[in-house]
Amino acid sequence: MSYAPDHRAPRRAAFDILRGLTGRAGAGCLVAAVGLLAAGCSVKGADNANLIAGKKEFVAKCGSCHTLARAETKGIVGPNLDAAFRASVAEGLERGTVRGVVEGQIANPNKAGVMPKDLVSGSTLRDIAAYVAQVADLPGKDSGLLATAVEAPGAGKPAVESGGKLSIAASPSGQLAYVTDKAAAKPGAVTIEMPNTSGVSHNIAIESGEHGASGSGTVLGASEFLTKGSAKVTISLKAGTYTFFCQAPGHRAAGMYGTLVVK
Ligand code: HEC
Repeated sequence: MSYAPDHRAPRRAAFDILRGLTGRAGAGCLVAAVGLLAAGCSVKGADNANLIAGKKEFVAKCGSCHTLARAETKGIVGPNLDAAFRASVAEGLERGTVRGVVEGQIANPNKAGVMPKDLVSGSTLRDIAAYVAQVADLPGKDSGLLATAVEAPGAGKPAVESGGKLSIAASPSGQLAYVTDKAAAKPGAVTIEMPNTSGVSHNIAIESGEHGASGSGTVLGASEFLTKGSAKVTISLKAGTYTFFCQAPGHRAAGMYGTLVVK
């Protein structure tokens, strides 16, 4: 696909136009907002955008396609948003201006591109844009209430097989993760179910051994892909350690895997 060169030219132009139109007026406001956030006492961005809601919605609606370090999202379908705004932020372009560019992109994505139109609107759109503008290419980690706005991926209770069934849900938040990264089963035939309510396409596959984010290449069984519903795969397992993971491009590398112990 050739969307990158096509969309970059107009986007640069948008920056230049915005740069010309906006003075430095927004800068103080943003510095104040960042200062308050660092102190953990405010979650309101400039003009009261709700950054906590913005972060949650970003993870749910945008993170499966975009990497943004502070949101801990690792999608690879669209551009890395830290990198996308790095030059602009380094050149001293106000983050308020970045926010305008993000709002514009959400409202009017490249028609020939992959990014869906009308993903979000209204206050959700503003909250997401405010959050992205505030944290793009910002070193460190979110603090205070923003730090806990989104559950850590894979931190849920381990999944345990019962009666030959093992349920490992995809993260409902849209994160590239299952709700847990640990599962246990007895030897024999096991039906692994992956309930998915996220709207992001996932599956669940099994390989023997513990291979983390990279994989051994030998897949013992894999479910179908779906965006909503419950995917299933039945396999016969001997005692040992296995890895369960999602086969959608980039999802395993982003952290969508876990360890299944059979004994
Ligand atoms: C299905 C994948 C997908 C989703 C979901 C998605 N995007 Fe995108 N996004 C892309 C792609 C691909 C591009 C590259 C340009 C194009 O195709 O329009 C892009 C471009 C962008 C850009 C421009 C970056 C640059 O380099 O100029 C921004 C900003 C952006 N997206 C923000 C968002 C936000 C915020 C959301 C959530 C509301 C979102 N995207 C959801 C795929 C996605």
